[in-house]
Amino acid sequence: MNMPPTPAAPDAFARGLAGVVAGRTAVCSLEGDLRYRGYSIEPLARAGDFEEVAYLLLHGELPTRAERDAFAARVTSAARSLDPAVIDCLHRLAAARPDAAPMDALRTGVSLLGQIERDVLPGRREALLAQAERLLGQVPALLAAWCDLASGRPVAPWPTGSIAAALLERLTGRTPPADHAAIFGTTLVLYAEHEFNASTFTARTIVSTGSDMHSGITGAIGALKGPLHGGANEQVLEVLAAIGSAERAEAWLEEQFAAKRVVMGFGHRVYKDGDVRAKLLGAMCRALTRGTAAEPLEGLAARVESLMLARKGLRPNLDWPAARVYHALGLPVSVFTPIFVVARMSGWTAHVIEQIGDNRLIRPLSLYCGPAPRDYVPLASRVGQAEACPTRTGFSLSPIRP
Ligand code: ACO
Repeated sequence: MNMPPTPAAPDAFARGLAGVVAGRTAVCSLEGDLRYRGYSIEPLARAGDFEEVAYLLLHGELPTRAERDAFAARVTSAARSLDPAVIDCLHRLAAARPDAAPMDALRTGVSLLGQIERDVLPGRREALLAQAERLLGQVPALLAAWCDLASGRPVAPWPTGSIAAALLERLTGRTPPADHAAIFGTTLVLYAEHEFNASTFTARTIVSTGSDMHSGITGAIGALKGPLHGGANEQVLEVLAAIGSAERAEAWLEEQFAAKRVVMGFGHRVYKDGDVRAKLLGAMCRALTRGTAAEPLEGLAARVESLMLARKGLRPNLDWPAARVYHALGLPVSVFTPIFVVARMSGWTAHVIEQIGDNRLIRPLSLYCGPAPRDYVPLASRVGQAEACPTRTGFSLSPIRP
């Protein structure tokens, strides 16, 4: 009989792998301060230059001006040269289901790109970096193309400018003012990377089997979609809309607590004293919305924050201000999580390359909790029903409604 090459079977386990160190990374650290490749998040976020951060994550060092511009030109060129076969497939899908979630279109689109580009396995580092740079341009272009096609419009050309300015222009249909493009760039920087989160770990697990980058990224998009991870930013606006006014906040929250529902945009697996990204972007969001039609939402958000802290000791995560910023920029809710995909593409691909460069199959163990050994009964003589496996669901995942 084959035995696992590990010590005796464990008698304890960490639910959801909480607190488990599952590998090493040089891409990002959360110890004390959030840092990308050693650089603190705050100056990177304030500079708000997604291209320089994507370059840093992928190549390991901050670029010079020339390196940054050449990188940006390669990414833009990828955004402008989406394979017509991919557009054609999305066109047919949009005609059949124009109401499909953009997040699903992105997952399908990356999978299609993988089929067309035929990743070479095992990838050399240079080839993988080139593939990552192409994805950085192709994915925002896919998102914008889907939005056009789902609205029955032909696919518009990719504009000039940074990824942030160009994507914002494509998604809103107008050239963004400089302060809008700047804060949008900051959200991309803040969303770019976050160590072994669920989607990144998914991507690493997939490529650890020897599979390719597009497969890893397709899986990561699926993992990000869930409301406990990236999907939360779309639900944040639902929360705010459902509460409606600061006076209703307390009663609404009590209802959620009584029903054991989580409040989207609060809490974090790693940050128990608050998410530095939420603090930074929250302040920027308040400055952006001051004196605008979006300002009243900030009063409501502040009330919810103080109640969540007082009642549950929970602070906002990045999704809480990011959703409000996207709303203030005039973006539809259905593209909030896809924008997270555009940004996290940089972190995912950096991790995929790191995993492939120092790979060992990711294959943990489980603690068996099923029936004791029993004898097989042939179908003809079987009576009675097998008992369903007991599950523990924890808190409710149902979408929050008033
Ligand atoms: N609302 C209400 N209660 C909460 C929330 C919340 N947002 N978050 C945690 N809790 C409660 C838990 O139910 C748990 O209560 P219990 O002790 O009575 O069972 C307690 O706080 C402790 O929970 P944790 O162990 O800290 O939660 P965990 O680490 O397993 O989960 C998670 C983290 C999934 C992010 C959780 O906080 C959550 O569901 N938040 C809402 C979804 C969300 O905003 N996700 C975005 C994450 S950040 C990102 O992707 C950028």
